[in-house]
Amino acid sequence: MKLANKIIAWQRTHGRHDLPWQNTRDPYRVWLSEIMLQQTQVSAVIEYYQRFLSHFPDVARLAQATHEAVMAQWAGLGYYARARNLHACAQRIMTDWNGHFPTDAAGLATLPGIGPSTAAAIAAFCYGERAAILDGNVKRVFARYFAVEGDPTQRATEVRLWQLARDELPTSKTCEKDPEAMARYTQGQMDLGATLCTRSRPRCIECPLSKGCMAFNTGRTEELPWPRQR
Ligand code: ADE
Repeated sequence: MKLANKIIAWQRTHGRHDLPWQNTRDPYRVWLSEIMLQQTQVSAVIEYYQRFLSHFPDVARLAQATHEAVMAQWAGLGYYARARNLHACAQRIMTDWNGHFPTDAAGLATLPGIGPSTAAAIAAFCYGERAAILDGNVKRVFARYFAVEGDPTQRATEVRLWQLARDELPTSKTCEKDPEAMARYTQGQMDLGATLCTRSRPRCIECPLSKGCMAFNTGRTEELPWPRQR
């Protein structure tokens, strides 16, 4: 079976399904969760996410808020550039996008704080777009599965990993047959990286990809991905 189909099947039975930002296609909610999750763990984000939404229920209300009000709700989450970009992004959506989020990854990636991977995640979750993600967790999954050597934060390694991420997307046919395929695949990659394919002591025995995983099959899960070179 193709890698994507294994991840989709695993996500269906073993992935997370009841996080507060799942089971919605509202780009405002999905965007907010993805920004909060960029550098903060799920368990810490949940409470902030709920509270933030109760203060700023939609993009218009967030755009109208003062900088101080936004920072007050973000306080404690860290990486405060995220909050500044979040506010700037909400204002840009009101001024340049008529209050509506762009409906594809290319449009989303033009906004403050939304890089290519976050844009692809939002587009996959909200619109089912066949767009590849590549965050830290997903890099580790691909680096192990394909035994990609090199520092994953270096340009040449990143280029190779992005190419693999695009090559391994579910096929257009899979996406036509199953409108949820891209959301499942995207969430499945994140969940696999966070729960099984962990940096240390990955749980390969439980992993749906172990049969085809080059790192597992050659006993190199401890070596791959390479640590950041200094
Ligand atoms: N990390 C980044 N995006 C995530 C998501 N949608 N679910 C869980 N962890 C994530």
